[in-house]
Amino acid sequence: METDKGVIFDLDGVIVDTAKFHFLAWRKLANDLGFDFTQEQNEQLKGVSRVESLKKILEWGELELSKTEFKRQMALKNENYLSYVAKMDKREILPGVQKIIDYLIINNVPFALGSASKNARTILKKISLLEKFDAIVDGTDVSKAKPDPEVFLIAAGKLRVKPENSIVFEDSVAGIQAAKNAQMLSIGIGDPKTLGEADYVFPDFTKIDLDFIKKVLTK
Ligand code: G6P
Ligand code: MG
Repeated sequence: METDKGVIFDLDGVIVDTAKFHFLAWRKLANDLGFDFTQEQNEQLKGVSRVESLKKILEWGELELSKTEFKRQMALKNENYLSYVAKMDKREILPGVQKIIDYLIINNVPFALGSASKNARTILKKISLLEKFDAIVDGTDVSKAKPDPEVFLIAAGKLRVKPENSIVFEDSVAGIQAAKNAQMLSIGIGDPKTLGEADYVFPDFTKIDLDFIKKVLTK
């Protein structure tokens, strides 16, 4: 296939359903601190860095923590989250994802990871996908959180693909906004009511056929 395009995948909620583990771990933290938050509020945490997530949660619980306690809570959350990650293997790759990755490889289309997570490499290793990506940009490489386009712009740069030739798969509102801010084509994975700003939205990867991928790669 003749294409000068590249693809960037978010990780949590796109390649694997770790979004549910983040939710469980944040919810436990909130409950331990004496309050709760809803699934709707949780949507606002998707794609958002660990620090920013904790800030939002504490606002919802109307709590303020000392610097030391804030750090301690972040570490506890991550510890709890990693206890779920530890049980992961390649069966956790969401249905339909592998088929698209294989298609990109066969057609020599470069693809990268663009995630806010500092655990991205650990997770990719657990699901045996670490070596497949042409580039990985994660929470350890960026200073500005989505909706800032930084993570995707660095990823496109590493792939040597122009931003306007990049296609982003995202499950979060902040991530779709980041793709738009980077002038990239955005494909939302999830609920169209939540991800209405995306250029396209699919409920999951099983609903995306290879003809569609070919179309966006060649137009
Ligand atoms: C992703 C997830 C967020 C998470 C962030 C940081 O963007 O969607 O829910 O807070 O990564 O992840 P980390 O693994 O570094 O805590
Ligand atoms: Mg995500």
